[in-house]
Amino acid sequence: MNAFSPFHQGELDVQKLAKESDIAQRNGSVISNKILPGAIPFINQQNILIVSSIDTQGKVWVSVLIGNPGFISAPNNTSLILHTRSIINNANDPFWQNIKTSPKVGLLAIELSTRRRFRVNGNIQPNDNTHFTITVEQAYPNCPKFIQRRQLRFPKSVIKQNSLISKKGSTLSNEQLQLVTEADSFYVGSACSNGKMSNTNNAFTSKFDKFSCDASHRGGYPGFVEVIEGKRLRIPDYQGNSMFNTLGNIQNYPKAGLVFVDFEKGILLQITGDATILWDQNDPSNKTGGTQRFWDLEIKAWQQTHLPKELVWDFFDYSPHNPRETENKLDHTQQLKLKVAQVKQKSDLINQYRLVDSEDGILPAFEPGAHLPITLSLADDQTVERHYSLLSSHHENRYYEIAVQREENGRGGSKYIHQHLTENSIITAKPPSNEFSLPPTGMHTILIAGGIGITPILSMLRAVVEKQSSFEIHYTAKTEADLAYQEEVIALAKDKAHFYFSQGKNANRLDLKHLLSARDRDSHIFLCGPVRMLEAVRDLGIEFNWQENHIHFENFGTSHSTNNSAFEVELKKSAQTLQVQANKTLLEALLDAKVTIPFDCKPGECGLCSTVVIEGEVDHRDVYLNKQERKQHLCVCVSRAKGKKLTLDL
Ligand code: FES
Repeated sequence: MNAFSPFHQGELDVQKLAKESDIAQRNGSVISNKILPGAIPFINQQNILIVSSIDTQGKVWVSVLIGNPGFISAPNNTSLILHTRSIINNANDPFWQNIKTSPKVGLLAIELSTRRRFRVNGNIQPNDNTHFTITVEQAYPNCPKFIQRRQLRFPKSVIKQNSLISKKGSTLSNEQLQLVTEADSFYVGSACSNGKMSNTNNAFTSKFDKFSCDASHRGGYPGFVEVIEGKRLRIPDYQGNSMFNTLGNIQNYPKAGLVFVDFEKGILLQITGDATILWDQNDPSNKTGGTQRFWDLEIKAWQQTHLPKELVWDFFDYSPHNPRETENKLDHTQQLKLKVAQVKQKSDLINQYRLVDSEDGILPAFEPGAHLPITLSLADDQTVERHYSLLSSHHENRYYEIAVQREENGRGGSKYIHQHLTENSIITAKPPSNEFSLPPTGMHTILIAGGIGITPILSMLRAVVEKQSSFEIHYTAKTEADLAYQEEVIALAKDKAHFYFSQGKNANRLDLKHLLSARDRDSHIFLCGPVRMLEAVRDLGIEFNWQENHIHFENFGTSHSTNNSAFEVELKKSAQTLQVQANKTLLEALLDAKVTIPFDCKPGECGLCSTVVIEGEVDHRDVYLNKQERKQHLCVCVSRAKGKKLTLDL
């Protein structure tokens, strides 16, 4: 680590090799030696803590600690307390032995049901037999990408620890290999020497006691971890936050620990070994999501433990960011060259575009709900990527259809398409990506579309009609004329279609409260529309006891907002005042002014750009912050001022 960077040399080297040094430097500004105030209540309510540690032989281990909420707590922003009496799993975990000889630990507080996580690296020391204090060295939030949503349910009864069994070995059995290859996630521990090996002349007895540790998460669709010759694991390295804490550590100290959880059988499998980074690999089936980076772990030792059988894990859904392997060996880094074959005006503001392969070839397949990432060169020579849902049938492989609503005060993409794309125009796009797909379910499906949100819903509607599933569809817009796809919906859904519009003399609003209170809670809701509609459904879902995993949504962020106004933003710490124009996001205005701010997703989903608001009323448009967090924070990538000015803690 140097004076200007929160990163050590291994991380800097990997960032450079990945050509992501600039983004890493920007996102690194989120790393602090204090816990963010908003993260303290989050930490205090967690019941899963991932911890990494290093043993006397230098092997890195990562462990899952499970306890009643409060078992890890943050009494202030520079320390954490681990209450060992409240931990319900495994007194035989290597962690307890390792921290006797090396005090450096990496911690990850993770809430799988909301995909939130917060990392702390620091020094652990015992206070007494039942409490340990962790002094914070580094603390920062992590983005929620690749986390599959789950919820851990605790039984009411007290869980006894003595039913837990550990076994150890160095070669994985077939059953264990199966656990690994069927997993959709694991946790990883890694370490960095920081250039110092201890002389062991202090209270600790390991020559690795100055090594710092990190704990992190990896996830993907089941099968994302490959086993090679029974003794090596190969892991794809997806596009992350560019900081490369884990790979940077491996670059510095080529060892890692992994822990897999078999949620069904209640098994924890900890593996430790030697790690190697593999750059620029041939990846014809897109295992890496385009990075062409993998890393291998040569297995050296493992330990397996049973979790208390009283714990129940509910699976909600897969991360929408998990890269999919392509069956047709398509290279997802490739650009598709598409020709506009037809433009149809669907309403005053909406045009529909049919896109074909520029050489009349077959197009890559997609699933209902997928979107097409299109590259546009805007008038000011700026190249941007915009995502548009595919509304054509997923069986159609000769063309894609998208609908674009012109946003006068948007970010320029829709205006550009309306102005410049005519028949025979050529555009480039990446192959379709699935982030909002229908899970296989025999249950009743409720489709809800708000405005241009009809586009992914329409392809889902085709799929449920085709499968002859039980469904209903609710389609709402400002006026009847804005229901651009009313005819198509009637043709497909017939009497299962319901239409609403909020303006005009025959206005009839969709009564979400009635809908969510009346429908069977076994149904699944698929919703695409403005953030406010989504928030309403989410709040009503809680009020009427819907399970979180039965409500699926896609949000528009600001890209479909038509009422952006310019506003002023005062940055308290840096004593500057900026103007945010109506056609720019607050994040863009900050970046234009060279303000260093971390960000990742940009549609308000990851929380990385969350910033403290000192004054001013916020028009929240993210889907990340909860009600409590919104009292003090905003996501600058999508949210704006309600009034004329905001004052931020930047
Ligand atoms: S960058 Fe992800 S929420 Fe703003």
